[in-house]
Amino acid sequence: MSTASSNTDTARVFIFDTTLRDGEQSPGATMTLEEKLQVAEILDTMGVDIIEAGFPIASNGDFEAVATIAKRSRNAVIAGLARAIPADIDRAGEAVRHARRGRIHTFVSTSPIHLAHQMKKSEDEVLEIVTNTVTQARNLIDDVEWSGMDATRTPLEFLARCTEAAIKAGATTINIPDTVGYSTPEDYYQLIHDLIEMVPDSDKAIFSTHCHNDLGMAVANSIAGVRAGARQVECTINGLGERAGNAALEEIVMAFKTRADALPFHTTIESTHLARASKIVSAAANFPVQYNKAIVGKNAFAHESGIHQDGMLKNALTYEIMTPESVGIKSTSLVMGKHSGRHAFKEKLRDLGYELADNQFQEAFQRFKELADRKKHVYDEDLVALVDDEIGSAADRIKLVDMNVTSKTGGIHRCELVLSVDGSKVEVNHDGTGSVDAIFNAIKTGVGAKPHLVLYAVDGVTGGTDAQANAHVRLEMNGRIASGNASEPDTLVASARAYLNAYNRLLIERGAPAQGALAG
Ligand code: KIV
Ligand code: ZN
Repeated sequence: MSTASSNTDTARVFIFDTTLRDGEQSPGATMTLEEKLQVAEILDTMGVDIIEAGFPIASNGDFEAVATIAKRSRNAVIAGLARAIPADIDRAGEAVRHARRGRIHTFVSTSPIHLAHQMKKSEDEVLEIVTNTVTQARNLIDDVEWSGMDATRTPLEFLARCTEAAIKAGATTINIPDTVGYSTPEDYYQLIHDLIEMVPDSDKAIFSTHCHNDLGMAVANSIAGVRAGARQVECTINGLGERAGNAALEEIVMAFKTRADALPFHTTIESTHLARASKIVSAAANFPVQYNKAIVGKNAFAHESGIHQDGMLKNALTYEIMTPESVGIKSTSLVMGKHSGRHAFKEKLRDLGYELADNQFQEAFQRFKELADRKKHVYDEDLVALVDDEIGSAADRIKLVDMNVTSKTGGIHRCELVLSVDGSKVEVNHDGTGSVDAIFNAIKTGVGAKPHLVLYAVDGVTGGTDAQANAHVRLEMNGRIASGNASEPDTLVASARAYLNAYNRLLIERGAPAQGALAG
């Protein structure tokens, strides 16, 4: 990783991906260790410079994820987040210790509103904290990033003094978060520009953007920051993140690539991995991507209107500013049937970007065979849904074994259910106002808990009445939210499995850092 002083390519922008930290903080986006490793793998493969792998002090699970990603990463710098607390910094240092290149990212609030109401500290006390924490981190590792939380609502003078203190103490990256997504591109440009001008030795650190999307300006603000001199952009795949999310990695990368005339900057991201990365993150976090999402949405390259279709047929350039292939979108192909064997299945999965462990492969192959028996055409999308489902539910402690649903118009709806709970068989029956209600009631009785259903939605993986149903469920229990997903030819089975998948995620151990410790 080049540092501020060694970076001779002045147009090069470093991509810092925080999908596994800021993205995973998004309510309901909890990922299992296996899923985090899968996300880290694609980020590393596509050329992300820095992967923020988690917040090691938050829980043993977070620590293990950061430490494992640190050990496995081939190219990227692996960062661990730490509050301005000695124990946090030690834990982050420990987690990234085995990375080829590790980073401690420490932050403290700087805005008057945070200082008065959350931190209850004076400006002088915060300045001392900046010096002490960055010094502590630098004693553990030579790559240290400092962030001033709520920087965009901090008086410039004070933010400049904090930045100066951080650089003096050895910070090599200075991150300026728009924590609450309040900035406009003009404000943000001016802020980065002024800081670089005002702070002595600002050339000793790389300035970084970190923009939230509350007003829908996260990407525009990040790009304004780069135009003003920032050379690191913090972002997430699909713009995942708390509230309205973070700046979307794929949009920033493709903006630089497509509009090099107006934005003469470049990253090292191999853009043909973007669509795949989007799918992996969407499946891991159980967060559907909106259909019209720029770059990776289902409709991003679809042309419906007659005029557009006519133009596209004559010359794609009439309505296409970048090609679907440049972001890794391949046209749907009819792939496999019930006669396809293990070898062809393995090759196809490799094509789609999956390398499964042996037992996972066997399970996925078995499910593919069952699907091919029931469904005439098996498309790439079916295989992606099937494998994502397999990976997403592999760690589930509670699984569906059998289900029988009877339903009568105007009559009774009843579900007979067999579950496996930590390996033991549990049988329950329950009625409901409809089939889905009966299924969810039966599951609640079976697991002995009553989580609140926040969201239930079903869509088709492909078109046609024989399409697999993709069910999404979001549950809330004791202040925690988790999402679940499942794909099955049968909508009711998909619904039951999605509910169980969400419930299983509520069981994943997750530390609860002190209130307000995690910003968006
Ligand atoms: O938005 C924010 O301020 C953050 C910091 C922890 C960097 O995510
Ligand atoms: Zn953030």
